[in-house]
Amino acid sequence: MSRILIVDDDEASCRTLQFHLRSQNHSVEITGSVDEGLAVADSYHPDLIILDIRMPGRSGLEGLPDFIKLLPSVHVIMITAFHDMESTIEAMQQGAEDYIHKPIDIDELDTSIARLLTKKGDTDNLLIPTSPENIGDALSMVGRSRAMKEIFKTIGLVAKSPASVLITGESGTGKELVARAIHRSSQNPNGPFVAVNCAALVETLLESDMFGHEKGAFTGAVVRQEGKFSLARGGTIFLDEVGELSPGMQAKLLRVLQYKEFTPLGAKESQTTNARVITATNVDLAEKVSEKSFREDLYYRLQVVNIHLPPLRERKEDLMDLIQTLLGRINKELHRNVTHINKEVLEAFERYEWPGNVRELENILMKSIALSQGDALTRDQLPEPLRMDNTQFSGHPREARPLTEQSLEDIERIHVKRVLDATGWHKGQACEILGISRPRLRRLIRQYDLISDHDIEVDSEMNEDA
Ligand SMILES: Nc1ncnc2c1ncn2[C@@H]1O[C@H](COP(=O)(O)OP(=O)(O)OP(=O)(O)O)[C@@H](O)[C@H]1O
Ligand SMILES: [Mg+2]
Repeated sequence: MSRILIVDDDEASCRTLQFHLRSQNHSVEITGSVDEGLAVADSYHPDLIILDIRMPGRSGLEGLPDFIKLLPSVHVIMITAFHDMESTIEAMQQGAEDYIHKPIDIDELDTSIARLLTKKGDTDNLLIPTSPENIGDALSMVGRSRAMKEIFKTIGLVAKSPASVLITGESGTGKELVARAIHRSSQNPNGPFVAVNCAALVETLLESDMFGHEKGAFTGAVVRQEGKFSLARGGTIFLDEVGELSPGMQAKLLRVLQYKEFTPLGAKESQTTNARVITATNVDLAEKVSEKSFREDLYYRLQVVNIHLPPLRERKEDLMDLIQTLLGRINKELHRNVTHINKEVLEAFERYEWPGNVRELENILMKSIALSQGDALTRDQLPEPLRMDNTQFSGHPREARPLTEQSLEDIERIHVKRVLDATGWHKGQACEILGISRPRLRRLIRQYDLISDHDIEVDSEMNEDA
């Protein structure tokens, strides 16, 4: 039961609402003006106020700051007329948490009240530590999955050598970040880091971008221009989407790699470069080689070292670290301080397949935070595909797939979680049923980032892992 105060000059509407809300076991007071409402609120201490915008005397909009000043933790739902967009926006900016249109739709009101009242004292929100020392800077990479740990190790091993590195992985997995990390740990961390996108549409422009051109080398070349290979001297050149290079450009790149030499467009003399070459691609270069659309000799030159970034859906144990880091960055950028994430949000993230990988996670967090209020991210702020209702999304979506389409890992994950839930997360019992040792169970819980439905163990799991 919660205490609700209705402030609306339409007495009939107030009575109807009061009747309805009382039937739901709430205690309800009604008043017809802002001033009267404030007086009642002072003694009644409502948990939630339903505040009409249009009222004789002071409007709900004018009264809103006073209500919030009087009861800083009160929830406020504004009642607005259609076409009253501006006051609605203003109300939301001043701290109202929701609004409903007149004529009031009871279902809509119920949903809103339920949402706001369950927010209160919410133990379903997890604290995400996002202080600067936890999040690093825009170039720090995080992840605890075995794949990421291997990648960090490889970066450390190859950074100081001049070997070319080919970074592969789906879009948004962090290829450019790896390239920058290698540069930062290289012999010349203070040298330039220069990026080139090889998927440029016009070959001449790409060639001029990479190697530079003399004045008059082609139509439009009105001044001489330095190429990226020249600008990257003493540093790193990062060739993104290298799989898109034409045969002509592949030959030119091979020459740079073999002889450290290139010739700007329209120039007579060649130039030299000592730039370290890092390339990236999200296509399968080996396949391109077998189709003869990518030179084999170039391929071997490029991938002296290959770093492969697995898609996010294959390393969901990185989610927490990523959320923490990205949240910190986004807070800084948007001047916000979102420090909590609802358990449901995490679960939705767990289930989602992340076709756009880390970049998609970043975008989703950014959008949700931009649209949220307060310090917690809740499920209703998530975009559509993640907010799917429970029936469609809950439990184990992979379980819904025929068994013959599931990997051993899928089945293991689902079964371990099922046994844990069935034993109320009694680890001893779960071990006995599963026939495994406790350390093994702990490893599995960590590997699959399993979370108990009742109490959130993420924090302790994180510490355990640290
Ligand atoms: N392990 C990580 N830790 C922290 N941030 C990450 C990590 N991986 C990716 N990011 C962030 O995700 C975003 C996408 O990364 P990045 O641009 O490096 O991906 P990409 O593989 O180059 O993508 P594309 O193929 O689309 O160019 C960036 O904002 C990056 O900072
Ligand atoms: Mg990229």
